Amino acid sequence: MSDTKTDIGWPDDEFRTPEQEQAEEGLGVPAADQLSIEQINPLNAHLFAEHRWHDHFERLRNEDPVHFNELATAGRYWSVTKHEDLKAVEMDWKSFSSADGITLGPKITPELRDNPSPIISFIAMDPPDHREQRRAVTPAVQPANLLNLEPLIRERTIDVLESIPEGETFDWVDTVSIELTTMMLATLFDFPFEDRRKLTRWSDIVFAIPQPGGLVETQAQKRDEFIECVEYFSKLWEERKDKPGHDMVSMLAHGEATKDIPVAAHLGNLLLLIVGGNDTTRNTMSGSVYGLNKFPEQYDKLIANPELVPNMVTEIVRWQTPLAYMRRTATQDIEVGGKQIKKDDQVLMWYLSANRDEDVFENANDIDIERANADQHLSFGFGIHRCMGIRLAEMQLRILWEEILQRFERIEVQGEPERPLSSFVNGYTYLPVKATRK
Ligand code: HEM
Repeated sequence: MSDTKTDIGWPDDEFRTPEQEQAEEGLGVPAADQLSIEQINPLNAHLFAEHRWHDHFERLRNEDPVHFNELATAGRYWSVTKHEDLKAVEMDWKSFSSADGITLGPKITPELRDNPSPIISFIAMDPPDHREQRRAVTPAVQPANLLNLEPLIRERTIDVLESIPEGETFDWVDTVSIELTTMMLATLFDFPFEDRRKLTRWSDIVFAIPQPGGLVETQAQKRDEFIECVEYFSKLWEERKDKPGHDMVSMLAHGEATKDIPVAAHLGNLLLLIVGGNDTTRNTMSGSVYGLNKFPEQYDKLIANPELVPNMVTEIVRWQTPLAYMRRTATQDIEVGGKQIKKDDQVLMWYLSANRDEDVFENANDIDIERANADQHLSFGFGIHRCMGIRLAEMQLRILWEEILQRFERIEVQGEPERPLSSFVNGYTYLPVKATRK
């Protein structure tokens, strides 16, 4: 694969991301109360894989809400952990740019930007480029299109739920969450249905940390798989250029702002839509089952009153916060929450922490499906980059629970889940459950 003509400008095996550095060095991160405030570094992926991030962020919110760290691989960065400060950063896109990347790491250099790369997409752009490219794919997730999709989503959800085994333990993540979100993506892209798990694979490896025995073992393997992805989409792109449909590939191939850009350069936008629509919704589907089992009285309330499904969905999106943070980069010296941030410093907006902010959400660690202000959560971001797929994600989750409540007495969690080694994707890789039909 390495001598292929497709060049995606991917770093070699010598390259280590800050997250990788932390993951390698951070095995056995001490408990929050054993660290001085300066020693706390919430980026460590082990905190998430072991589900121990709560206390670390609580200390930051209480003692140092805009917190400084520095790493050899990433340089200077700040963690913004309170709801109000985070919104202020999101709103000020002129002072806090997305163009240098959305996860902690070195700047996106001009060479990287000129090379088609999986990390260059409109989520990592500022206006006007951001606005124009976003506009090209927005119709796919607008209400009129969603209304057309709803019956198909419901039908596929019912098929998946009808096929789950009765009375035996199975993995909810793979059997339901991955299957449903992958089907949905295949529909949005009009992607060959039999190959749909390729979408899941590409999505999974975007943020995978290369390590022996891991999802990918080396940077080179990751690059080769992305090349396969570009080549697959190039074929679809050529087909849709001649015969457009109503899918996202056709929209990019014919959109005013996007049609003249070579397809490999869209790898980022395509992966953005795949990851955006996959990991996040999938992990909320798993989080909803896990969370309602953690708070069984809330599950009882939902069974007794299915009209609570829409607010339950909003509350679960808050409680789960499937994307833990997004990064911005300061374009000038500027103050946030009393701290002096320097031009070029990175700023991590920890949605996961803002969604646990007790100044906004009472008993924030608990699920309350009737929470009156659940919709104040920041899981979808806030400013000009606010998630494009909100309605689609909420619709999928709502349909899933409407259909679960009709068919099952209960979906019961049988053991603790397994979680990915990532401080960016806050999710589940395995969740054992048993289902009892009505
Ligand atoms: C529960 C599910 C989801 C969550 C929690 C979520 C979360 C997010 C977050 C945090 C951002 C960045 C916001 C910011 O920087 O202010 C974002 C952006 C985005 N999301 Fe989602 N997302 C979800 C579902 C989806 C779905 C289903 C799609 C599919 C179309 C999608 C597509 C996108 C896109 C394209 C962007 C980039 C928007 C931009 O830069 O203008 N997301 N999402």
